[in-house]
Formats: sequence, structure tokens, C-alpha cells
Amino acid sequence: MRVLITDSYDQMGLEAAKIVAGQIYLKPNSVLGLATGSTPLSMYERLVAVHRTVGLDFSEVTTFNLDEYIGMGPDNPQSYHYFMQKHFFKHINIKPENVHIPNGMAQDVIAEGERYEQLIAAKGGIDLQVLGIGQNAHIGFNEPDVKFAATTHKVELDEETILANSRFFNNVDEVPRYAISMGIKTIMMAERVILLANGRNKARAVYKAVCGDVTPEAPASILQLHRDVVVILDKEAAELLPANVVSI
Ligand code: GLP
Repeated sequence: MRVLITDSYDQMGLEAAKIVAGQIYLKPNSVLGLATGSTPLSMYERLVAVHRTVGLDFSEVTTFNLDEYIGMGPDNPQSYHYFMQKHFFKHINIKPENVHIPNGMAQDVIAEGERYEQLIAAKGGIDLQVLGIGQNAHIGFNEPDVKFAATTHKVELDEETILANSRFFNNVDEVPRYAISMGIKTIMMAERVILLANGRNKARAVYKAVCGDVTPEAPASILQLHRDVVVILDKEAAELLPANVVSI
């Protein structure tokens, strides 16, 4: 695990965008795993800028998003489908058929999870997975006490997550209670992973991910066992890390 501490949220996004852009330059038909939330927005902005200014080409790129709320269709402005279109896909030249996000409206969630896993495998697996982190150290929607062996599956959201995500809704009662998420195994099978975090409210989760015990109580801690992870932080999110953490 390598840790990169940047000066600001924008700088964090820039460093993440450099890694994603480098991946696409080296392998134009890369398979990217993508995240939603406020954290990766500065990365998406930078990637859109690189696409516009120097023509970073997404025409052969395939994407798989981490998760979606159950019960939300793509036209719902709170859905992760909508989020991805608004902040990223509609600004780049990715082919709609190469964009994949779990279907939150699937009648059979187990079958949807299996379909998603098969699709990832059929595309040759994820080359680079982008992650944010929840305040409780969740990745995707893999909440504390997750099973590390899980693949894409239905999850019940923690109260803490519901509260944290209620800032995007009119009130807390509107936040869905369930989601469909890539599992820890799906994430761990990616060739490379970048984990982004900004702000003081993520400092504890970052500490657990980087320095804590590897335990299902802190799902992101499993990343310590992955062979190619870069953690990209702003100063506030890095606040609790000891000085001896290997940084680049
Ligand atoms: C959400 C998403 C995660 C995201 C996390 C942090 O619940 N499922 O993929 O990383 O919470 O969100 P934010 O970046 O808005 O803090």
C-alpha cells in the first residue's frame, strides 16, 4: 500500500486523474471500476478536462460502477446511474454499451449480482478500481462486518451511512435502506486500486484502512492485503496517520 498525501482536495483529484489517464494511455481498452460520492468529483472534473484539452480517448474503455441503491431507476436524480451521467459519462466519448452499473430495479437481486460478476469476468476483469471510503471505513457499500468473500450482492446500509448520505436527500427518511454493491472479493480481484479520501471526517476511516487491523469491522482494511493500492489523500484525511507511514 502506498500513500500519497496531497495539499488539497483538488490536488487529490488531479493525482487520481493522472493515474486513471495513464492507465488509459497505456491500455486504451482498459476496464475501470468507478465510484460515486463527493470524493471522486474532482477526479472526474480533471478527467473531463483532459478529454477536452488533449483528447484522452474513452472510446474503447469499459466501466463498472461499484454500487446502486435498490429501488432507484436511472432517471431518479438520487441514483448513482444519474450521478455518473451527470458528472462524467455525458462529458466524455465513452460508448453507452460499455458503461455498467448494477441495476437497482432488478426483481431478482441475486441474479443481478451474478450477471454483474459474469460481465466483469467476460471483460477480462477490472484493470483499475477507484474507491472512496465511508466514515465507517466502508468501500462500495460493504459495511462493517462484511464477508470478505462476498461478490456483488444486496446490502443493508448502516445507520451511519444512511445519515451521512442523507445530505444528498431532502430528509433522512428518503435515503434507501438497501443497495446492490460489488463485494470485497470483486474489489480485491482488480489489478490496481486507488482509494481516495478527503476531509477530517474521513481521518479515522483512513487510519483504520492503512494502519488498523485487517478486520471485517473496517472493510477498507482488507486493501492492506492487495498488491497494488495507492491511497490518495488530502492533508485533513491524512491527519491521524503516523509519520512512518510509507508515503510517495
Ligand atoms: C457512499 C458510496 C461509496 C463512497 C462513500 C463515501 O455511500 N457507496 O462508494 O465512497 O459513500 O462518499 P463521499 O465520497 O460522498 O464521502
